[in-house]
This record gives sequence, C-alpha cells and structure tokens, in this order.
Amino acid sequence: MAPLLSIKDLTVDYRHEDRWLPAVKNVFLDVSEGETVAIVGESGCGKSTLALTPLGLLPQDGTCRTTGQVFLNDKNLFNLKEEERRLLRGRRIAMVFQDPFSSLNPVLTINYQLQEAIILKEGKPNHQTAMDLLKQVHLSDAERILESYPHQISGGQRQRVLIAMALVHHPALLIADEPTTALDVTIQDEILQLLKELKTKLGMAMIFITHNMGIVKNISDRMAVMYAGHIVELGKTADVLAAPKHPYTQALLRSLPKLTGSLGTIPVMEGQPPEPSAMPAGCPFHPRCDRTFERCEKEDPFERDSDGRRVQCHLF
Ligand SMILES: Nc1ncnc2c1ncn2[C@@H]1O[C@H](COP(=O)(O)OP(=O)(O)OP(=O)(O)O)[C@@H](O)[C@H]1O
Ligand SMILES: [Mg+2]
Repeated sequence: MAPLLSIKDLTVDYRHEDRWLPAVKNVFLDVSEGETVAIVGESGCGKSTLALTPLGLLPQDGTCRTTGQVFLNDKNLFNLKEEERRLLRGRRIAMVFQDPFSSLNPVLTINYQLQEAIILKEGKPNHQTAMDLLKQVHLSDAERILESYPHQISGGQRQRVLIAMALVHHPALLIADEPTTALDVTIQDEILQLLKELKTKLGMAMIFITHNMGIVKNISDRMAVMYAGHIVELGKTADVLAAPKHPYTQALLRSLPKLTGSLGTIPVMEGQPPEPSAMPAGCPFHPRCDRTFERCEKEDPFERDSDGRRVQCHLF
C-alpha cells in the first residue's frame, strides 16, 4: 500500500546573509496510514523544519528554499498552488505546536478561535460542534472554557484546546512538534495519553517530535533519529531502542539516566552538533564519533531506503 506521506530526498536551506545553510539534508521518510513516527535529535538538528515542510509553513519570504518531493497519497505537495495547499492544511494534515500559549490569540476567547476553525469546515459557527470537540479532548468544564481567554485557562487545558482545533477536520495526519515540552510532567503524561487515544479512535497517522526517549518508547511505532539535518537511523522503535546501530543513536541512549541498577556516572556525549555554517566534510557526526575511520572524514554516508531498518553510517 502506498504510504500516506512520502518525503523523497528533501533538502531545506535557510538563507543567512549571502549564504544558503542546510537545515534538512537528503531526507527520505514514509509515514503509513495510522502509523506514529517519532523524530528525535538534539536541538537544531532540523526536526521542526522537517515537520513544517508538508504543511507548507516554511518561510515564504525568500529566506528558505527546498528541493526534493513531498507526496500526500499521490499528490506532490510542492506542485500545489497556494490555495490548494491552504485547503489541505488543517483538513488532511494538522499540526500541534510546542507552546500552547503562543499558538492562541490572547485577545480572543477560546470560543471565537474554535469557531473560526469550525466555520472553515461547516460554513457557520456551531456551538454543539465546539462542545463535542472539547468533550473529545476531555475538557469537562466546556462552557467555561469556551468563554475564557487563553490566559484564564491552564497550560494543559490550552494544549487540549489546540488539539481540539487540530481535530476539526478529522485530519489523516497530525504533526505534533514537542507538544508536551512546555507542560508540567504530570500534565505531559495526560496529553500523551490523550493523543494516543485520539489517534486510535480517529485512525490518524502521527509524526511526533520530541527530545524525550521515554515518550518515543511510549508513543511511536517507528522512530527516526536526526543529526545535523540527516536522518541517521530509522526503524521500528522497539528494534532501535533495543539495539541502536548508529554511533550517534548509541551515544544518545547511553547518555540517558537509568531508573534501575547501581548509581554511577552517566556518560555524556562530548561536543556539540555542528553549526550549519561549519558542517564538517564527510559524515557530519564523525568529529564526535568514537568509531570514526578514514572514510568518514571524506564521504557522507547516504541511504535512500525509506522502509525497514536504515542506518546512515559507513560501518553498515
Ligand atoms: N526561519 C529560519 N531562518 C533561518 N534559519 C533557521 C530558521 N528556522 C530554523 N533555522 C535553522 O535551521 C536549523 C534547524 O532548526 P530547527 O528549528 O528545524 O531545529 P530543531 O531540531 O527543531 O531544534 P529544537 O529542538 O531546538 O526545536 C538550525 O540551525 C536553525 O538555526
Ligand atoms: Mg524544533
């Protein structure tokens, strides 16, 4: 069966003064109907840039350029007119962002903002639809929430409202960019459970971006590990976590604190990911890699398989 979303050889560059610097490089990624793919990696490795691409939300002011193809079913999203793109956005693909506060307009009530989404779907405001949506995200005090301004409800409630908005059109794909990072730990867990429940109930596929390996394990079928704009490892979450192959994935997992066993020092990964303006030649991870050899300094490993297990490393 053809994947729901298929990203083929995607490269995204941002313009910094007179130079183009890569944020996402030669990425291949498929997402099937109903599947959850987690994307992990350190800050600045290109996760959000990758997530914004299918929605057409990258800057349109000439500071960003893309090459490659992104298909939703059989439609190449890069060939759509802006109007067609806009119609697709929210309807087939929806997004939930990290910070629920800045995603809402502070001077408009929740009802006003939710109805704007409902009008797009139903052509007119509908109080019952708003109530049903809030019920679906388990907001019990729906009448009060609707009358409130964003600052009058909690962070967890705001994120639930945003998830409700994302669900208005029953999207086939939900892209969640660190949707729990700005929330308290207990609330994080509630939002995760909610997303899992909704995904199963509505049969959505999900791309879930996170720094947190615990969340990856909890929520995803497959995981993609990003480093310096590349997907360096991709596979079933259970397989990757049980036996990571890429030296970067191995180092990431080694540097996680364990809840069991004896207390010891946690190995830290030395160094920082490269700045896009100072990308090393060869494999971008080789300066930090403990298994680097000559070829790694010269040749960027490149893998184009988009299903099965994939490791972008000269050791494989
Ligand atoms: N609008 C932009 N203009 C110029 N450069 C940008 C822009 N957005 C992102 N970048 C650069 O692109 C690279 C990737 O950024 P991106 O936000 O995609 O990373 P990320 O993995 O989501 O990081 P984080 O975990 O901190 O959210 C970074 O070097 C960043 O500075
Ligand atoms: Mg980000």
